[in-house]
Amino acid sequence: MVFQPQLKILISRDEIAKAVNRLAREIERDYQDMQPLLVSVLRGSFMFTADLIRQIDLTLELDFIRLSSYGTARESSGKVRIAQGVKTPVKGRDILIVEDIVDTGITISFLLDYLKSKQPASLKVCTLTDKPSRRRVPVPIDYCGFTVPNKFIVGYGLDLNQKLRNLPDIYTLEN
Ligand code: IMP
Ligand code: MG
Repeated sequence: MVFQPQLKILISRDEIAKAVNRLAREIERDYQDMQPLLVSVLRGSFMFTADLIRQIDLTLELDFIRLSSYGTARESSGKVRIAQGVKTPVKGRDILIVEDIVDTGITISFLLDYLKSKQPASLKVCTLTDKPSRRRVPVPIDYCGFTVPNKFIVGYGLDLNQKLRNLPDIYTLEN
């Protein structure tokens, strides 16, 4: 039988848009007269990144990074690997990581170490969602859209087995 996900709305597209706007204002305020390099973590944060950068009135640059971690559909193995690194030189740049979700913190913590080793001028984290109840590694979060409950979430870029990324709102998976 085909798996039928049971979805319950958690964050509507309107609430997402408001949060994206708020984050953009915070980023503009903190990066005045700077030219930050945003590093978007593929694939989950592609939609958030596209919406966020359109609201930021700064001269910014954008690059992407792709990580891979083996594991089950809903849980990463904790072994993170760089599948595709940043192409833009990071040394001396003001780097802002753009993530979809900070869950155990293992991914972001790995990414912070990787980027720190490239000697940026500054390094900060912007995440659309934060699931603090699952944290295993403490990580600094500078900009956060929403704190979410200890449930698996999908939509607006977040996937279950590569599916459901296209949903315009964010849902909790109830089965
Ligand atoms: P970490 O556990 O903080 O290392 O998160 C690893 C990655 O797992 C995130 O970047 C997401 O891609 C994915 N992930 C964690 N929780 C969820 C979720 O609730 N929905 C979809 N993806 C998730
Ligand atoms: Mg991700």
